[in-house]
Amino acid sequence: MKAARFYDRKDIRIEDIPEPELKPGTVAIDVAWCGICGTDLHEYLEGPIFIPPKGHPHPISGEEAPVTMGHEFSGTITALGEGVTGLEVGQNVVVEPYIIGEDVDTGEGQEYQLSENMNFIGLGGRGGGLSEKIVVEQRWVHPIGDVPLDEAALIEPLSVGHHAFVRSDAKSGDVAVVGGAGPIGLLTAAVLKAEGLTVYISELSEARKEMARNTGVADEVFDPREVDVAAKVKELTGGKGADVGFECSSVPVVLDMLMDAVRPGGVIVNVSIWGHKPEVDMPTLVLKEIDLRGTIGYSNDHPATIKLVQDGKLDLSKFITARIKLEELVDKGFDQLINNNEQHVKILVDPNA
Ligand SMILES: NC(=O)c1ccc[n+]([C@@H]2O[C@H](COP(=O)([O-])OP(=O)(O)OC[C@H]3O[C@@H](n4cnc5c(N)ncnc54)[C@H](O)[C@@H]3O)[C@@H](O)[C@H]2O)c1
Ligand SMILES: [Zn+2]
Repeated sequence: MKAARFYDRKDIRIEDIPEPELKPGTVAIDVAWCGICGTDLHEYLEGPIFIPPKGHPHPISGEEAPVTMGHEFSGTITALGEGVTGLEVGQNVVVEPYIIGEDVDTGEGQEYQLSENMNFIGLGGRGGGLSEKIVVEQRWVHPIGDVPLDEAALIEPLSVGHHAFVRSDAKSGDVAVVGGAGPIGLLTAAVLKAEGLTVYISELSEARKEMARNTGVADEVFDPREVDVAAKVKELTGGKGADVGFECSSVPVVLDMLMDAVRPGGVIVNVSIWGHKPEVDMPTLVLKEIDLRGTIGYSNDHPATIKLVQDGKLDLSKFITARIKLEELVDKGFDQLINNNEQHVKILVDPNA
């Protein structure tokens, strides 16, 4: 079968590899669509980061480069391994793409995303969505009912937004400010709107401001070059400030803006994965008793995220900006996202085309 394999930085090859083997407790899936993520781009340009380099196998998967890429995917079940229950051949599903130690409890309320050596399918080994087929442990397979398979490929990044929402402890009626409207900021905002919050977005790029407006994920979209975003948020909240802020840009001034824009006792969830250590305005944090929180991946967020989509609380089709074939991954996928990033939210790859 065809698969996109990461060998090294700027060295991704579309190759013919053997089909994965169905083992007890696993599920065989024909991949329908796989999204390209900012993390994949980082691997391509600056990696290997999550990908275990040649000679350094991942402690759980035991694999090293070359590995198959792609962690945001949907597909249809084609076979069930011995002992798999509660799933059916022909069912459409998404995969929660974790590689997590066998001894880790992944039950309700368990923070398995924080377990040692956590990595992701499509980065740390175990195949990936940028291939025709994949075999995954039953634990990570989530049925999607009648959610269209193309939209379903966005459930993984949407779950990142859902987990950020859960981490914020925000509730319906609260006011949120999202700093940065890239794919993660937009999808976080989509969850916040679906959960009944008022959402203000700060974004610089024209195309992304437009996307934030057209998708309806924001009540107002501000350009920090045109308005003092924190002042505007305070004005709109009767002088109080927002209940929660979400840092989705990895830009220090955005974190500063959120410190200013949230109310005393407010919460800021940092979603960004920073390439450097930013300065944090600790005096403001102390005087306003701000809770600054991290969020990574998701933990038992997929069922609730899928339900939001099934209930029509948000429309993922609006975030799909291109569809390409596997052979086009580098020139129409990665290169587009590097040179023409603003025009895109999610580029979907059809590994069978
Ligand atoms: N925590 C997690 O589990 C998790 C998962 C996936 C991605 N991430 C991280 O989330 C972050 C966002 O991802 P993305 O793919 O959306 O990135 P992105 O780079 O596409 O988006 C960032 C956005 O911030 C905007 N921006 C830059 N400066 C700004 C400013 N001064 N004011 C307002 N907006 C500004 C940019 O125009 C851009 O649209 C990244 O750091 C990524 O690594 C985290
Ligand atoms: Zn991703």
